[in-house]
Amino acid sequence: MLVAKGTGGEHQSYADRGQPVSELVVKKRSAPDSRITPFGYIDLFCGCGGFSLGLERAGLRCLAAIDHDPAAIKAFKMNIPDVQHALERDLTSFTPEQLRKLIGPVNVDAIIGGPPCQGFSRVRRVDGSNNGKRLVPDGRRLLYRNYLHFVEYFRPSIFVMENVPGIRNAAGGEFFISIQREARKLGYRVHAAGICAWQHGVPQKRERQLIIGTACELPIFSTTLYLPQTHEDPDGRVNSRKPREQRRGRGRPRMLQKPVTLWEAIGDLPPVSVGGGVPEMDYDIVRGRNHLETYGDRYLIDALQVHRSEKLTMHVARPHSERDLRDFDRLHEGETSKEAIARGEEMEFPYDRTHFKDRYTKQHRRELCSTIVAHLAKDGLMFIHPTQRRSLTVREAARIQTFPDWFEFPRSPTVAFRLVGNAVPPLLAEAMGRGLRQYLSAALPARQLSPLPKTAHEAANWLTSAVGHAAGPRQLRELPMEELKRAWFSIGFLHNWLHPDSVFENDGQMLPAAEEQVPLALLVPEVATPVYAISGWPVRLIPLAKEAARRFRDGRLRFDEYYCSQAQIAGWEWLKKQGARWREKGLS
Ligand SMILES: C[S@@+](CC[C@H](N)C(=O)[O-])C[C@H]1O[C@@H](n2cnc3c(N)ncnc32)[C@H](O)[C@@H]1O
Repeated sequence: MLVAKGTGGEHQSYADRGQPVSELVVKKRSAPDSRITPFGYIDLFCGCGGFSLGLERAGLRCLAAIDHDPAAIKAFKMNIPDVQHALERDLTSFTPEQLRKLIGPVNVDAIIGGPPCQGFSRVRRVDGSNNGKRLVPDGRRLLYRNYLHFVEYFRPSIFVMENVPGIRNAAGGEFFISIQREARKLGYRVHAAGICAWQHGVPQKRERQLIIGTACELPIFSTTLYLPQTHEDPDGRVNSRKPREQRRGRGRPRMLQKPVTLWEAIGDLPPVSVGGGVPEMDYDIVRGRNHLETYGDRYLIDALQVHRSEKLTMHVARPHSERDLRDFDRLHEGETSKEAIARGEEMEFPYDRTHFKDRYTKQHRRELCSTIVAHLAKDGLMFIHPTQRRSLTVREAARIQTFPDWFEFPRSPTVAFRLVGNAVPPLLAEAMGRGLRQYLSAALPARQLSPLPKTAHEAANWLTSAVGHAAGPRQLRELPMEELKRAWFSIGFLHNWLHPDSVFENDGQMLPAAEEQVPLALLVPEVATPVYAISGWPVRLIPLAKEAARRFRDGRLRFDEYYCSQAQIAGWEWLKKQGARWREKGLS
């Protein structure tokens, strides 16, 4: 292992205090706002917990997680210990009634999970084995019925089923259609959305099919609104679906981050030789520091949380035959064996040029990795390291799946690869979790907003105080949540014609204060004028409104708080009551 030069110690961990690199890595993810009551969900077919980990990080609460695989449940319990009911049960026989007895009369807001996808995957479709007339009966395809049985019993506001894209065409689309039709019969509005993991910061070509159902009496769920793309598509390298809605939507186009490449995810890890590595080792701090300087901390720190991991685990390379290793050497970075043969390379492994199925892929440092699959448990030939003579280790695969470095897997690489390959990437799940939280906040019957001003005078005092304390965007970012809410609800109360969605609709043209903003103009004249012609928003309130919009996007302000209809209605009612008195005496 490489030892850090000049760091004065052999013990190598990103968490070490006193090491120079620690200055770069102390930043922590902010904890979900504990004042928001967490929404409760059930994770069916939970595996080792990729989906749940993301949802927990988004601030939702797992009421129960169920899988029949003992290794998966053991890993789930070890890594997400706060979940009281991580249950090893077979979902073909375990019933919702039995689960209700265990969890008691709590409200189940959401059901999530991925019924096994092997029965639908493209790999088997290529063989013709699960298509049309040649459909091979596969019990795993009917597990969706067990899933829907839980939906029927618990009647969550929303359910999210995750599966492989192959589900759309399996058996001529029969299952895809049946799932949706059966869910509709249960009273759910169903929507199927394809998602690309890389658009949410996952360094992988992973595409997945979501089937999302919302109770018919609730508002529509839209992935464009609740699961917006955050990262650019790598140019032309992947089957890029540009989400045009992002650009057509109201206001400015969303600023997208650069995609995360394979090297950003694994480039700091110490080199290991084929068959080498140990289950637990030190980090290479020099490589780590250089890596952070090159890429910043968005992936290593924010997604992988390397600073929370004392040791590097599961960085062990499997052995390969000498013949395979020589064939690895024949591949260029980013090339498949098919492409190498097409450019004239002679490979050593026996192959028939007429019916040749691809055998190797050497991944490319500056591109997305191929989709991490459970098949890695069998061999790693499609996942050859871009610069080392070996296939990827479990830790590398886990990092590409966005599992944090502290996440522990079973020591058996076969089991670990299976759990990693089957999982929903936690980072993608976190994005879904934020969307679910926003949606559920919007869908709930209105909760009492707090703090809500009682009079226009109180609202004016709250607003003046916030505007006085925090003039610039930086100060506004630090404004305590309580004060921001006071100010935001006060705007709603004093000027209930304003719409949060039009904050960004300004072309620079300004007017003196409009007539309808009487309470604001009388009580807080210093912010009331001028106003933007298009939106009617007072120019001086725009920074505050943008800060509220930022916190709404982050999931820190609930939907009902951001749109604050209650504050607007309260202001309207107050004004009506004041009526004649208002006009005669003004507001004194
Ligand atoms: C695609 S994986 C789910 C991965 C999980 N969502 C995650 O993010 O880690 C499907 C899971 O279904 C489980 N499974 C398959 N048949 C089952 C059954 N009859 N009862 C319970 N779990 C089952 C498998 O053990 C596997 O862990």
